[in-house]
Amino acid sequence: MMDPVRTRGGVTFFDRMLAPVHRWIWRDDQRRVQKLLCFGETETDGGRDILRASEVTSDPLLRRLYLEHAIDEFRHGVLFRRRAAALLSTFPSCSNPGFQGDWLAPGGHGLDDLQVDGESDHSMLAFLHLSEKAAASRFSVYRDVMHHDLPTRAIFEEILHDETFHMNYTLTQLARVAPHHHHRHLWSARLSRLWKGYLRLATGLAGMIGSIMLTVQYFILLPLFAWLAKRAERREIPGWTRVSPEHNQSLDRQY
Ligand SMILES: [Fe+2]
Ligand SMILES: [Fe+2]
Repeated sequence: MMDPVRTRGGVTFFDRMLAPVHRWIWRDDQRRVQKLLCFGETETDGGRDILRASEVTSDPLLRRLYLEHAIDEFRHGVLFRRRAAALLSTFPSCSNPGFQGDWLAPGGHGLDDLQVDGESDHSMLAFLHLSEKAAASRFSVYRDVMHHDLPTRAIFEEILHDETFHMNYTLTQLARVAPHHHHRHLWSARLSRLWKGYLRLATGLAGMIGSIMLTVQYFILLPLFAWLAKRAERREIPGWTRVSPEHNQSLDRQY
């Protein structure tokens, strides 16, 4: 089935459009290390979930494929972490990596959204297929924008090969376990991913707007209150002051 957002080279139009943003994000060494560590974590977590999927499925072929898939994801996690460690060892000192753009350019997989228990084989395969497809698309762009760091580029190239295999086997298996309804399962999984993508974008935008509002309050409202407090302080009579008799009754109640 042709994906409406897919264009050339297996890369979605959206990812291709964001290539300059990805280039900018990955250009910074500190940011690159943070992204690689984050990807390593996502891949390992995804591998753990797929390992769980291999335990809960009753289909022997899927169990074997999930197991191989999980091993691949664990290996991807190790590759990302090792590369991050190698880059980190070349830095004189750590500093704040700043903007990561995770909500705009999230980790390669969508596997962090995976809920294994209670999923049927077909819904799991549909979810995995779309996640792997998204990963293949993003890793393809990351590889293309990584000309300044050839070892990292080689890692994306290697992982991309696995993700393409994962993308293909999940679709083949989905057509096997749900021969008449696999298109419907794919659309259902696609809508679910779209909703989660919207929530991620909305959360990111809300965080950014919140930061702007708090900064504006800090630099505009707080100085105003500080000025009013200082003005009130100047009007205060220094030292002890006599309390008027009507305000100086005996304390027979709490307030
Ligand atoms: Fe992976
Ligand atoms: Fe994968």
